Amino acid sequence: MSTQSGAPQRRTTIHELRRMKERGEKIAVITAYDATAARLCGEAGVDVVLVGDSLGMVVQGHESTLPVTLDHMVYHSAMVRRGLTRAGARAHLVGDLNFGSYQASADEAVKAAMRLVAEGGVESVKLEGGADYADVIRRVVRAGVPVMGHIGLTPQSVHKLGGYVVQGKDAERAQALLRDARALEAAGCYAMVLECIPTELARIITGQVSIPTIGIGAGPSCDGQVLVINDLLGMDKSFTPKFVRRYAELGDAVVGAVGRYVAEVKDRAFPAEEHVFHSSAVRLVPVPDEADDREDLPGVMGAPV
Ligand code: KIV
Repeated sequence: MSTQSGAPQRRTTIHELRRMKERGEKIAVITAYDATAARLCGEAGVDVVLVGDSLGMVVQGHESTLPVTLDHMVYHSAMVRRGLTRAGARAHLVGDLNFGSYQASADEAVKAAMRLVAEGGVESVKLEGGADYADVIRRVVRAGVPVMGHIGLTPQSVHKLGGYVVQGKDAERAQALLRDARALEAAGCYAMVLECIPTELARIITGQVSIPTIGIGAGPSCDGQVLVINDLLGMDKSFTPKFVRRYAELGDAVVGAVGRYVAEVKDRAFPAEEHVFHSSAVRLVPVPDEADDREDLPGVMGAPV
């Protein structure tokens, strides 16, 4: 098992992310859910790693993000933290506040955010919602936890939205999203995700707020981009949303590799001599013929001495 580690780099702060927007330097964000993926993303030089509640769909196999609990978020965040630390990565780590952890009250939001920081090792939290969540955001920020906002297609509201559909396509909804974006900035968010909105609207929002916008299905004008790691790596061929670019076909690679392994086990081609341990103190000696006939020891020719 690999345990390599990299030399620790200076961590990317929320202030550095703001400076990147000011410099016009794009921000690369990716989700990760375990230590190995986090280590590899850290080695690849990603700016921000998001432990997204999308783990409910891509890791846990649910149809939505709604069943994800705060315990799940803490568990996966802690793994990702260890992976980034092992890589000596500079990436900023943000964790999603799951459905049900912040909607009921600001008090609950503060407690959930603190658990994600203290036990999960994240440096900031993300929560879904616009102006309606300004008070919650203020309270979490006041408690010392930076907040990334998330507007547009907010998967935790999938039932209210009527599905995973592009948001803000008419002038009225676009105006409402612009108001939401301004409200997030005023409430103290350090950045915001814009998910599945027209590229024209993302451009306007990005130009009108001083904090970085991170787009997913929101076009190239955003200050940064985020993709779900499983989508980017091509782990599920049946999932082909318009906004994803697959940078690898790991799904095919995994099926091919595991298929070859299965075939080689069946054919006795694996393990080969190079995979085998030897001991000169252990050798087989002949045993009486009747022992060779025992059904629970098929093919045994002798006994170790
Ligand atoms: O949960 C998630 O992965 C997200 C990103 C897609 C932005 O919220």
